[in-house]
Amino acid sequence: MRIGVLTSGGDCPGLNAVIRSVVHRAVADRGDEVIGFRDGWKGLLECDYRKLDLDAVGGILARGGTILGSSRVQPAHLRDGVERAREHVSELGLDAIIPIGGEGTLKAARMLSDAGLPIVGVPKTIDNDIASTDVTFGFDTAVGVATDALDRLKTTAESHQRVLIVEVMGRHTGWIALHSGMAAGAHAIVVPERPFDIGELTKLVGRRFEAGKRFAIVVVAEGAKPREGSMPFDTGGKDVYGHERFAGVARQLSVELEERLGKEARPVILGHVQRGGTPTAYDRVLATRFGWHAVEAAHEGAFGMMTALRGTDITLVPLAEAVETLKTVPTHRYDEAECVL
Ligand code: F6P
Repeated sequence: MRIGVLTSGGDCPGLNAVIRSVVHRAVADRGDEVIGFRDGWKGLLECDYRKLDLDAVGGILARGGTILGSSRVQPAHLRDGVERAREHVSELGLDAIIPIGGEGTLKAARMLSDAGLPIVGVPKTIDNDIASTDVTFGFDTAVGVATDALDRLKTTAESHQRVLIVEVMGRHTGWIALHSGMAAGAHAIVVPERPFDIGELTKLVGRRFEAGKRFAIVVVAEGAKPREGSMPFDTGGKDVYGHERFAGVARQLSVELEERLGKEARPVILGHVQRGGTPTAYDRVLATRFGWHAVEAAHEGAFGMMTALRGTDITLVPLAEAVETLKTVPTHRYDEAECVL
């Protein structure tokens, strides 16, 4: 069998572990050939690829990023490129393509699969917002990075009696905010799923100072927005891909909270540091299992499917189902955290 693999969309710790696992299972165990397309779907459309043998994946298990490179491709561009993709698949004699990616990549994978291309998807995102899989690799690493930052920020916040508003990733969902906030004992957690009321947030943080505490840590997901009319808010508009641009919610919140509380407030934006560096052991294991199962699915001809974690088992789910909705944080999880607005 000849398999093409690619990584597309925002990168994520664990991508190299999947690539390595695909090559190990396919080449070493099954006698397949594997090629890797450069820079995501772009590589498939431009027939830009490299051979992946066991040497090519030596030493990459613990490496962050992706040895294949990644890019975001506009959906319209890919739609226009379906025929080109089909030609390249046939010219290269590919029996299967394994795209590793998040929401956008999996939607593209579904479109190409519907067009008849032999695709097995592998989900990835630090945001953990892909429906149909309990967890995506990258999430555990990102939560660890954010938690470590929060622990560090607590000491400087206390020294200066400040409110620190820490912005973590999560365009549509608050998984990283919730988990890092819980792990570090944040005093307020603000998530995109629940538009916040600035009055309530001020009260929550204010109560802490009234109780004699000297600082407060607020964790906010980058996609969080105030309730309509709650405070002036610049939404940031849209980028060239039509994605909502970052609104700088932490910066806007720090101005508002400083004024309302009469306490010094500072925004801290963790940004892409959450996506870089070495994956945790948990992420390496999940990524490796996904790679192994994707190769097996290709051999079984289970195209149009995606690997997924359900409980402790890896299973296959239809791509169509996986891209239907995003996995948002369920309400009962807020109660457990105590301080989600
Ligand atoms: O999808 C993962 C993610 O890290 C989001 O949390 C974030 O909004 C986005 O990627 C940032 O993307 P980019 O690297 O294109 O700025």
